[in-house]
Amino acid sequence: MVTRVRTVAFQGIEAQPVDVQVMISPGKMGIHIVGLPDKAVAESRERVQAALHASGLSLPPKKVTVNLAPADLPKEGSHYDLPIAVGLMAGLGAMPADALQSYVVLGELSLDGTITHVAGVLPAAISANRQDRGLICPAPCGPEAAWAGEDIDILAPRSLISLANHFRGHQVLSRPEPSMHANAPDLPDLADIRGQESARRALEIAAAGGHNLLMIGPPGSGKSMLAQRLPSILPPLLPRELLEVSMIASVAGQLLGGKLTDRRPFRAPHHSASMAAMVGGGIRARPGEVSLAHRGVLFLDEFPEFTPQVLDSLRQPLETGDCMIARANHRISYPAQIQLVAAMNPCRCGMAGEPGHRCARGPRCQQDYQARVSGPLLDRIDLRIDVPAVSAVDLIHRPASESSAFVAVRVARARDVQKRRYEALGFPAVTMNAHCPVALIEEVAQCDKAALTLLQQAAEQMRFSARGYHRVLKVARTLADLEGIEAVGRIHVAEAISYRMAQDAANQAA
Ligand SMILES: Nc1ncnc2c1ncn2[C@@H]1O[C@H](COP(=O)(O)OP(=O)(O)OP(=O)(O)O)[C@@H](O)[C@H]1O
Ligand SMILES: [Mg+2]
Repeated sequence: MVTRVRTVAFQGIEAQPVDVQVMISPGKMGIHIVGLPDKAVAESRERVQAALHASGLSLPPKKVTVNLAPADLPKEGSHYDLPIAVGLMAGLGAMPADALQSYVVLGELSLDGTITHVAGVLPAAISANRQDRGLICPAPCGPEAAWAGEDIDILAPRSLISLANHFRGHQVLSRPEPSMHANAPDLPDLADIRGQESARRALEIAAAGGHNLLMIGPPGSGKSMLAQRLPSILPPLLPRELLEVSMIASVAGQLLGGKLTDRRPFRAPHHSASMAAMVGGGIRARPGEVSLAHRGVLFLDEFPEFTPQVLDSLRQPLETGDCMIARANHRISYPAQIQLVAAMNPCRCGMAGEPGHRCARGPRCQQDYQARVSGPLLDRIDLRIDVPAVSAVDLIHRPASESSAFVAVRVARARDVQKRRYEALGFPAVTMNAHCPVALIEEVAQCDKAALTLLQQAAEQMRFSARGYHRVLKVARTLADLEGIEAVGRIHVAEAISYRMAQDAANQAA
């Protein structure tokens, strides 16, 4: 007789249905798993056997065949332990096979029969809900699964025994409750930063429109400090964004305690990050830093110190908002709609352009260092600003600057204007000017005559790419939105152009 248990395989953040078929037949004793299992799945044989033994159930001296269907879909991970074990238990009569039909099952087993945490429970629960089924998952993942819907039936047992007892009616498992992380006000505040007015302004514009930002300045001027304060002025995730972001965190196994948070992700990988760590993939397909920063910020400190290949791998996600990974045996895509914030020194010694300083290696010091960041990547950065060293007067005498709470109010107001605009235009998925579709840019950023003339002159003189031209318009739109003005004026365009010029001017000076 064959017993069937439903589980899932992950492709990107989608959970594909997989059927676990278990057959107990006469033959040499042992468990055989077929259906493209990877190493972790093949090893589940040992865990299942031990966990069943620890739960007081020994295998009969027969041949057990486990087929994971569809057979041509690669199966990765340790979450097949539980469906295989319950399939076997149903085959042995220790669990009702027909009751299992209405559940999707996933979980890893310890040798002592406890069910331990696995990645991807949230997408699995959403997929189960779509099929009108319940979910059986490990106890620590229960709160995460509960987010999939109010009416989905969730069983989150601690061990195989408590699951068996539930079906026998000896012990009732209660439905886990969805929970959120209490957002403690522990984010660093902009009030800590002295001086740097123009950098603070650029940070506010970046936050308001979701624009990419590059800060260039000497060591110790506060670039890393500024970037770390960006999360404190970003608005919380919208409800549908929350679920999207949490699905990625879930697949990556990073939803701690099964709790969700409405804080936008802020990822700051070290510059030694590999390509697989940045864009995802590797032997076991996992979302990379760009996907974990989806709907939030990817902060690359010491920008030119990243390997050029890793930096250039960001070009596609920055343009399309997703990350397509093709490997020999699979092709998957993860969402990656990010805001890139980068910080760098102007040269290797860090002081190029500072008054009274001369680089030991002359202008080449700056040229070589900056050439590590490719032109096409720079072209995708809307705001490039210089962050000069803070003077001692600023540090000692200046009163504390405006705190994040005030800036966050202005940012939230500007974001609200943008969200309503794109909704009215029939693009509800677009919430920020930075993601405005090409076809709409000129319609939403309607410039007056003076602004147009300035834009034309600048585009000709500075030889903007088409992308550069569009990005200047988007930044100008955000500037007008921050002021609550409908028409984009010359002053907005002029400021937007100045942010694009900063680095070109520095390069020409070198
Ligand atoms: N504008 C500022 N206001 C107050 N403190 C500052 C400011 N800039 C720098 N500091 C002080 O200097 C320290 C270092 O700043 P930070 O790490 O942000 O510099 P950085 O520009 O990133 O330098 P590097 O290029 O070496 O990475 C901060 O921890 C803070 O103590
Ligand atoms: Mg720094």
